Amino acid sequence: MKIAMLGAGGWGTTLAILLQENGNDVTLWEFNAEYSRTLNQFRENFYYLPDIKIPSQVKITNNLTEAVSRKDIIVISTPTQFIRNSFAEIQNFNFGNSIILNVSKGIENKTNLTVSGILLDIFKQIEKKNIACLSGPSHAEEVARKIPTAVVCASENIENCKIVQKVFSNKNFRVYRSDDLTGTELGGALKNVIAITTGIADGIGFGDNTRAALITRGIQEIMRIGKKMNAREETFYGLSGIGDLIVTCTSKHSRNRFVGEEIGKGRSLKEILKDLKKVAEGVATAKSVHFLSEKLNVEVPIMEQVYKILYKGKNPLKATEELMTRKLKEEY
Ligand SMILES: NC(=O)c1ccc[n+]([C@@H]2O[C@H](COP(=O)([O-])OP(=O)(O)OC[C@H]3O[C@@H](n4cnc5c(N)ncnc54)[C@H](O)[C@@H]3O)[C@@H](O)[C@H]2O)c1
Repeated sequence: MKIAMLGAGGWGTTLAILLQENGNDVTLWEFNAEYSRTLNQFRENFYYLPDIKIPSQVKITNNLTEAVSRKDIIVISTPTQFIRNSFAEIQNFNFGNSIILNVSKGIENKTNLTVSGILLDIFKQIEKKNIACLSGPSHAEEVARKIPTAVVCASENIENCKIVQKVFSNKNFRVYRSDDLTGTELGGALKNVIAITTGIADGIGFGDNTRAALITRGIQEIMRIGKKMNAREETFYGLSGIGDLIVTCTSKHSRNRFVGEEIGKGRSLKEILKDLKKVAEGVATAKSVHFLSEKLNVEVPIMEQVYKILYKGKNPLKATEELMTRKLKEEY
């Protein structure tokens, strides 16, 4: 199939290589013209995915219209907060029946939309049934090294999921399917906020008990938001829910966990982000969740404390104490 990968970060590059190796015709779009030339010349993404060769068959371009023209699948791998501005240039492009597949994980500030919502907002000509999402526990660093990985593709149109399953799957990468687009996107976006808390806990020097408590109470908060947005509860027990939450909250590869860890050690968010060249979606998503939970009238105490620590300068120890001494209640 002819596939465009819009975003040459670690994840976009990894998936572009996987798709090419699976026998597809792949075009990788990088937003920065100079870096696009560097990628073309050296065939390595030094910045976001070092030590992995990009096959010569993967076309690399900075031209967005050229990238999306005549493609069967258009994959969105651009970080959530950059999507709206990046794609304004192709706002009126005729996508026909191409599948628009989101692999990014976040909630946009200002609109509180997940990526499918942003896409429907920018591209009035596309139908929701043509949008799909691929999510689950899948660090680029491991997929690029062909470590066995399982993810899920969700779309209202299950036939599109079947196409995505066929195109992406191989002996190291297994794709399940689901019709719960909302739940799948929410799981991927919200786990990043919880990962910041497990990082903070580790940075402070708390132990395994704290991490396990944050993961299990965290999935409850994610589910509460999901239910209000008509997602299916079982989705949160799956790969894009608890699966992705576990990996992000425990892995050395997680930038969101890393950001939290540095905060727990006493560094400021501004200083951490200045040094972090890669995107940590959970930082912006924490802000969206603050407003979204208010709008939906959902109680998300852990995620609310993350918002206060990141944006209101709250002391993490004080936040912990407040969480621990809330009114006692039933588990469910
Ligand atoms: N890396 C992973 O393991 C992984 C796995 C699954 C999903 N994701 C998701 O995929 C998305 C992309 O993450 P990544 O890890 O590839 O990112 P990355 O940090 O590796 O790369 C950042 C990307 O953002 C682009 N960028 C920077 N400034 C930009 C701007 N102003 N406008 C447009 N693009 C800009 C860069 O060119 C680069 O492609 C995120 O939503 C992330 O949560 C990542």
